[in-house]
Amino acid sequence: MRRSIVAANWKLNGNLEMAKSLVTVIDAHSNGLEGVDTVICPPFPYLSYVGGLMSASNVHLGAQSIAEYESGAYTGEVSAEMVAEVGCRYAIVGHSERREYYGETDAIVAAKFSRIQAAGLIPILCVGESLDQREQGVMQDTIVRQVNAVAAEANISNMQNAVLAYEPIWAIGTGETASPEQAQEVHEIIRSEIAKQSTDIAEGLRILYGGSVKANNAVELFSQPDIDGGLIGGASLDAEQFNAIVAAGSL
Ligand code: PGA
Repeated sequence: MRRSIVAANWKLNGNLEMAKSLVTVIDAHSNGLEGVDTVICPPFPYLSYVGGLMSASNVHLGAQSIAEYESGAYTGEVSAEMVAEVGCRYAIVGHSERREYYGETDAIVAAKFSRIQAAGLIPILCVGESLDQREQGVMQDTIVRQVNAVAAEANISNMQNAVLAYEPIWAIGTGETASPEQAQEVHEIIRSEIAKQSTDIAEGLRILYGGSVKANNAVELFSQPDIDGGLIGGASLDAEQFNAIVAAGSL
């Protein structure tokens, strides 16, 4: 039985006051909940502060992104080692907003993924197709290409200490969620792709769903056999909504 993860991706939102009220309520609610880990990924300046508000053993800190370099003259960048030092346990990589707005290619995503693991952190690797790709019938090719940019052959052991997130681009922030059946279909594709290399790793891999997850659709999504929790954007900024989604992850 895979342990669920429900991760909050605040993106470019929030302030210190919001961080305090939100994290205090989420931490208290998650504390002691069976079968689920809660991860909160605030903007960089708030990492230490948010980490300091966490007391439950199943609530963890995550970064939204990291640099593909270890150190050097890269103004504005933040390394995996730095976020690890301030208490992160997870880091998101390959989010479609990074791929689309900041030109992150599969090669950059793979480099960042390695940096995250080298720093002792667990990557949350996001993959997902656009509406256009789905309509043109290349959804599966797109997903498999994104997964294999990181997981192909020699690198399959990387997946032992990683989390995947399927996030159809057309469902992110749009209010349009993939149906549980649509999501399950892709989660199964991802797991079978990994199973071609290692059935053990595939069986243990947590695959989260992301894209307009709300309190009212989380239970149905998370009850699918290959969905092991969620990566939550908009609804993670509302304590009541997010706590209900975490509770769905513990069922
Ligand atoms: P959303 O975002 O829940 O607002 O759709 C999900 C994500 O981008 O991780």
